[in-house]
Amino acid sequence: MKHFLKETDFKAHELPGLFALAQNLKQGRGRHTPPALAGQTWALIFSKSSTRTRVSFEVGIHELGGNPLFLNRNDIQLGRGESIEDTAKVLSRFVHGLIVRTFDHSDVERLAAAGSIPVINALTDFLHPCQIYADALTLAERWAGAGGDLVGSLKGRKIAFLGDTACNMAYSWVLGANLFGMKIALAGPKEFAPTAEFDAFLAKEGYAGGYEFTTDPFEAVKDADVVYTDVWVSMGKEEETKERIRVMSPYAVTAKVFAAAKKDAFFMHCLPAHPGEEVEQAVLDNPRSIIFDEAENRLHMQKAIMATLAAARTQA
Ligand code: CP
Ligand code: NVA
Repeated sequence: MKHFLKETDFKAHELPGLFALAQNLKQGRGRHTPPALAGQTWALIFSKSSTRTRVSFEVGIHELGGNPLFLNRNDIQLGRGESIEDTAKVLSRFVHGLIVRTFDHSDVERLAAAGSIPVINALTDFLHPCQIYADALTLAERWAGAGGDLVGSLKGRKIAFLGDTACNMAYSWVLGANLFGMKIALAGPKEFAPTAEFDAFLAKEGYAGGYEFTTDPFEAVKDADVVYTDVWVSMGKEEETKERIRVMSPYAVTAKVFAAAKKDAFFMHCLPAHPGEEVEQAVLDNPRSIIFDEAENRLHMQKAIMATLAAARTQA
């Protein structure tokens, strides 16, 4: 069974086809024949809030001819202690795919292992791969030019990630950058440098030491093609808000920091943003800020991912 729990669940040779499918679906929105999810129901199990992920998946499933079923974790028996394994086995008898937003990354791995349907990671505390694939498509659309090599256009580019460099977005971008052949520099307070656990995971994926870490934001953005940031207080970390804002303040993406990247660099943020904290409003409003294009591409890329996983299941 093919799942999408981490960036490397698609191999390098599968990426050109996936990106081309996403672009085709974008161009022919609403005209995908035959509908890849016709007659299917895909369930979304969410333990955290969401705007982009929930809406883009629900709309995407509908546009592929399927039926989305949103399940708040607390409204199903999982929230009252039914095991992850039993939940996976039962839902596999009813629905054709699971899209899961949760805290522990091991939850999505356990659902995938116990069930018999594709599982997609819609964000865990560790990784947010749907966002990285949509972001990569957004950049490739600009760099490849009309009819160009989408995935190839990412190779050799540099991304700088500032702020909380031990969060799901930072980790996912490190893994994604390595998969896409990009360079990545992280800048943040040393207390929030990637953990030894993440380094071990990265090594296991074949990318040991695949990032630079610095406490100097200007060093990270030097020669960068993309400057990226995320909130300083991820969902579930609210109790640490005061301390996080204190230590991460020097890593805000200000107009001055953004100007120190390449002259044609793009600014990206997975959103939601907290203007005045991790990013200045002027940077969000900069003509080279592509935050809403990356949000839109969640829909097109996730449709391509679901269609591919559904097809792989049929062939299995
Ligand atoms: N970027 C992202 O995943 O947004 P949501 O939390 O709104 O889904
Ligand atoms: N790091 C953020 C990403 C939100 C899309 C969080 O986990 O809350």
